[in-house]
Amino acid sequence: MKEGLLAALRDAVGAESAVTDPAVLAAHEVDWTGRFRGRALALVRPGSAGEVGQVLRACVAAGVGVVPQGGNTGLVAGAVPRDAVVLSTARFDALGQSDPGAAELTAGAGATLERVQRAAIDAGRAFGVDLAARGSATVGGMIATDAGGIHRLRYGSMRRQVLGLEAVLADGSVVRGLPGHDLVELVAGSEGTLAVITEARLGLVPSWSHRATALISVDDIAGAVAAAEHATTTSPELEAVELVDAASLALAAARGGQAVPFAAPGPALLVELAGDQPMLDALTAVLSTLPGLRNAVLADDGPGRRRLWALREGITEAIASVGVPHKLDVGLPMAKLAGFVETLGPTVEGVHAGAGVFVFGHVALGNLHVNVVGPAPDDERVDDAVLRLVADLGGEVAAEHGIGRAKARWLSLARSPDALAMHARIKGMLDPGGLLNPGVLEAGPPSR
Ligand code: FAD
Ligand code: MLT
Ligand code: ZN
Repeated sequence: MKEGLLAALRDAVGAESAVTDPAVLAAHEVDWTGRFRGRALALVRPGSAGEVGQVLRACVAAGVGVVPQGGNTGLVAGAVPRDAVVLSTARFDALGQSDPGAAELTAGAGATLERVQRAAIDAGRAFGVDLAARGSATVGGMIATDAGGIHRLRYGSMRRQVLGLEAVLADGSVVRGLPGHDLVELVAGSEGTLAVITEARLGLVPSWSHRATALISVDDIAGAVAAAEHATTTSPELEAVELVDAASLALAAARGGQAVPFAAPGPALLVELAGDQPMLDALTAVLSTLPGLRNAVLADDGPGRRRLWALREGITEAIASVGVPHKLDVGLPMAKLAGFVETLGPTVEGVHAGAGVFVFGHVALGNLHVNVVGPAPDDERVDDAVLRLVADLGGEVAAEHGIGRAKARWLSLARSPDALAMHARIKGMLDPGGLLNPGVLEAGPPSR
């Protein structure tokens, strides 16, 4: 660590909140999957926007990078430090309602999604974004990645829930809004490269009294896509439509100690309706019109629904239990989804024979999660082959997880040279030293 920087960091946040103990740093140097590793010079836990500003000024003066870190559940190595200072938002955990009765909450950037969800329920509402990492993922991380999740179909992604925010720029200035521009739009999805988010005002959605969930089996991925497209046009109460391929379903079932509920192997769709009256009849009506439905298991009680959701939400942990996954979160035009999945197997096999391939995700929005287990963590040939296939089909190489460091190499497949140049100009203006999350959202080789 550069001489004087540790002293300046201790000055900024207090000695107990500026840590260099390798045993403490270790958990902050590796991503959730264990695929990407880096090195932290120090971990700082500021307690106010002013302290964040002091940390940033100290790092800029020393020419050292700063990596904002929330729950460290990101799946594109965006919070993995590369000889940089990790700025943890753990102490920004306050939650409150500045205007009781209004459908909004104020949340510190370090508040977890689960706490936000509970506070929303206490206020008689619900929060519009949900994802399986809810116990650790934070408001700041979710805004910075513009997280999607299982309810994006109905309520949109994280940026749509944010009514306002407070952020600290690389020069230490604290901003809460912009004249003529939208601060939320600027910062959402910027993955910690333009500003450190310290607080947000979050809009809330209705809290539905009734839910019904179905896991349905279909013949193949084309059938799943057709059914998902049909479902989205049939019910205003539709809250989720998720794809689980046969391999993911079998793995999540085995890991969760459940039997696969269908006799014949094949992909499945999880469909959920939520509304203010009993939903089972409405769900049955939706299913009765779905093309290609082979079989269905329905539940409208808590335990039954949780069992079905475990077969979808348990996939990420189940995959992690069999190896270090190459996680490729991609978006495709609906018309190309089935063809993509058909070509995926041979594409991966051509690069790494015998690799395990798992496909699941938010199919109604064309957002699939391709997970490949087998190739070594630093072997990027499979990532390259899959992302090029996606780009050739007119898809997006990053749909909801972001670019981070993991996909920096493929950024030029995602955006035009003009768009990348404009991004570089904005970055240069707000962070002239390039010290806020260096290597993230920057075309170049990923690091581990
Ligand atoms: P971190 O991992 O700590 O950071 C993520 C990025 O945000 C980094 O670039 C970091 O520098 C930046 N950042 C963090 N905090 C701030 C801040 N205060 N200011 C500025 N930048 C900041 N993602 C989805 O989109 N949809 C899903 O359905 C989904 N499901 C998941 C399920 C599991 C089991 C897991 C492990 C992950 C899942 N994710 C999902 C990915 C992850 O949870 C999200 O990307 C989440 O938004 C990350 O939040 P975090 O607090 O953990 O951020
Ligand atoms: C999900 O939808 O479950 C997530 O985005 C997590 C993952 O991709 O593993
Ligand atoms: Zn997802």
